[in-house]
Amino acid sequence: MFSLGHWWVIGGSFVIYPMTHFLALETSCDETAAAVFTDELAVLSSVVASQTDLHARFGGVVPEIASRAHLRNLLPVIDEALTRAGIGTADVGCVAVHNTPGLVGALLVGVSAAKMLSLALGVPLVAVNHVASHIYACRLAAGRDIFPCVGLVVSGGHTALFRCDTPLSMDLLGGTRDDAAGEAFDKVAAILGLGFPGGPAVEREAAAGDPKAHAFPRTFLADGRLEFSFSGLKTAVLYTCHGQDVAKATPPPPGRKRADLAASFQEAVVDVLVGKCKQALRKTGLNRLAVGGGVSANRRLRAGLEKMCAKEGAELVIPPPGLCTDNAAMAALAVEKWKRGEFAPPDLDAEPNFL
Ligand code: KG4
Ligand code: ZN
Repeated sequence: MFSLGHWWVIGGSFVIYPMTHFLALETSCDETAAAVFTDELAVLSSVVASQTDLHARFGGVVPEIASRAHLRNLLPVIDEALTRAGIGTADVGCVAVHNTPGLVGALLVGVSAAKMLSLALGVPLVAVNHVASHIYACRLAAGRDIFPCVGLVVSGGHTALFRCDTPLSMDLLGGTRDDAAGEAFDKVAAILGLGFPGGPAVEREAAAGDPKAHAFPRTFLADGRLEFSFSGLKTAVLYTCHGQDVAKATPPPPGRKRADLAASFQEAVVDVLVGKCKQALRKTGLNRLAVGGGVSANRRLRAGLEKMCAKEGAELVIPPPGLCTDNAAMAALAVEKWKRGEFAPPDLDAEPNFL
């Protein structure tokens, strides 16, 4: 690939600044991902190797299996990302990595590889927060500045609302007291015998069901707290489905009953997420909502948020589904840190908890 880079006319002459290519790595959970983007936020490649097949028979992500699969997949994924971007390692000017939050063994694979690459190539290393990157995916998708905004991250590991004044400042407005919304989707999918990963499976099943068939709880929706709780909802689905003798539980067979359970569950999650986003917009006085994380790929949620934002006079920014679920392109947040000279030390560690 040939690129002149950026140029400006200064004092009557052209000054050319080389474009910087970033190589970013994501290994926080069960996707092994690498992406190449420029300091002008042009995404040249984004490669994601999913481990879904490896975890499906266990009904959830098995941390040790995830780490080992990252070890096997990461170098081929990096190679593929560089090839698709049309560059070689010598063209990489900065290495970025999600070092928090996530499964510690999984994060360590990406962090170790990123440190090695930065050292071997003699280029800076930038560490970025995976949750902040989910919001930055909205910035990438919009192709323009979206800050300040209310940010909702709704994934398998997190459900939280933030006030985001800049890409790098996220003030927590409220998180989940127990399960994340995606985790509830995955567990309800298991209860309904829909397999793993649960979110897309529940969405497919719900399409044939009646969202009003069961009045499942909408926790905290009526009060002003910007917090979430999905564990009671999950239990309500379990008891409605099997009764309280869960030891004898078998998933309901395919058919209308199962579709109604899926649709009613999905509707309860959507009502809570949409309702809390509305409250957050009103509380902060902001008029833009940015939504990221795997659950934001859900069409019912997207439609609910669109309707609410239109009524509230707020702008809604949601990336296309491929940028909602885990990927390394969203780590373009690293460009913001790189511009400020916020580089990671060579002894960067993986931090499993959300900082
Ligand atoms: O952001 P993500 O890929 O990984 C984490 O950071 O957790 O989110 C994965 C979560 C899973 O729980 C998955 O079931 C859920 O997002 N998900 C969905 C949909 N697609 C993925 N949930 C509901 N509807 C979907 N279409
Ligand atoms: Zn994620």
